[in-house]
Amino acid sequence: MKHLIDPTDLSKEEIDQIVALAEDIIAHRKRYQGSMAHKKLATLFYEPSTRTRLSFTAAMMELGGQVLGFSNPQASSVSKGETVQDTVRVVGCFADIIAMRHPIEGAPLVASQVSNVPIINAGDGSHSHPTQTLTDLLSIKRELGHIDDITIGFCGDLRFGRTVHSLIKALSRYNGIKVVLIAPHELRLPDYIKEDVCDKMGVTYRETESLDEAIPELDVLYMTRVQKERFLDEEEFERVKDSFVLDARRMALAKEKMVVLHPLPRVNEILTEVDDDPRAAYFRQVENGKFVRMALIVSLMDWRKDPAHAMPEPDEPIIDPTLHCTNSKCICNTESHQPQFRLAENGIMRCWYCESKVR
Ligand code: ASP
Ligand code: CP
Repeated sequence: MKHLIDPTDLSKEEIDQIVALAEDIIAHRKRYQGSMAHKKLATLFYEPSTRTRLSFTAAMMELGGQVLGFSNPQASSVSKGETVQDTVRVVGCFADIIAMRHPIEGAPLVASQVSNVPIINAGDGSHSHPTQTLTDLLSIKRELGHIDDITIGFCGDLRFGRTVHSLIKALSRYNGIKVVLIAPHELRLPDYIKEDVCDKMGVTYRETESLDEAIPELDVLYMTRVQKERFLDEEEFERVKDSFVLDARRMALAKEKMVVLHPLPRVNEILTEVDDDPRAAYFRQVENGKFVRMALIVSLMDWRKDPAHAMPEPDEPIIDPTLHCTNSKCICNTESHQPQFRLAENGIMRCWYCESKVR
């Protein structure tokens, strides 16, 4: 069964296929109108969302399918203590495919372990957001004409911004990618992305705290919101919340063809004066999200039973009772899942579910 929990669950060829299918859907919308007739998508959203949930809904409707689910877990039996795995087993009796967003890291992964229908991770904590990544890749492709050979700057909250983590993972499979990480010290990219992804895959990256210094060299500027809801320390949030603001003055320093992306919602990190600049692509990006989710639903439903599209073979998990994941937002610490670990190539032990370093 093919699920999408992490961008690396898809090969580069599969990603390119989904992006190409999305482009074909854009060009021939009518052709796909009945392709999900009599099929149901469940959207299980344990965390707020506008774009992801509604674009999945619109995508399934446009494919002729139907949608059920919840956007407020408190109105479901989750409020009575039902686990993620039990919820998914139940919803799999009603739906053909499930999109799940959860504040706890690893929740969609444990859901996929028991599900009889494909699970799509619509965002898990500050870990991963692979369908935003597909949206971002389609946007880059449509704006620039190619994904290879770009210099992309990620600006803002690179620590908690799950869209950044997933996009870097996916881009690491393309050629000639240069990454500039623009963040204050407190919001720097987690080590597991720098070491296990960039270093391992040979992605060139550098870190800076100055957007002014970085902006002239960028083909894509990927702005992000400081993720208030992920901070355990409110004072720390207050210190960094206004770190970067993109305005017309800074846009004047950028290339004529630079593309500005943002997964949205924005708070104050892009002034509205930038919205009319032709390089501001973040609202076009939202629409791409619907088309790419249409392509994803069609692909996962097609690939369900096709051995050529099986999930990648996982490493053998390490089970060691002396090791602990210290991430309080990891599913192994919030539900009773056996802690499991994997040894990264650099010798660091990481949690199987959330990828944080194990102490
Ligand atoms: N909407 C994106 C996410 O859910 C980005 C954000 O919330 O800032 O990760
Ligand atoms: N980009 C994104 O995930 O938006 P929502 O949080 O509104 O779904």
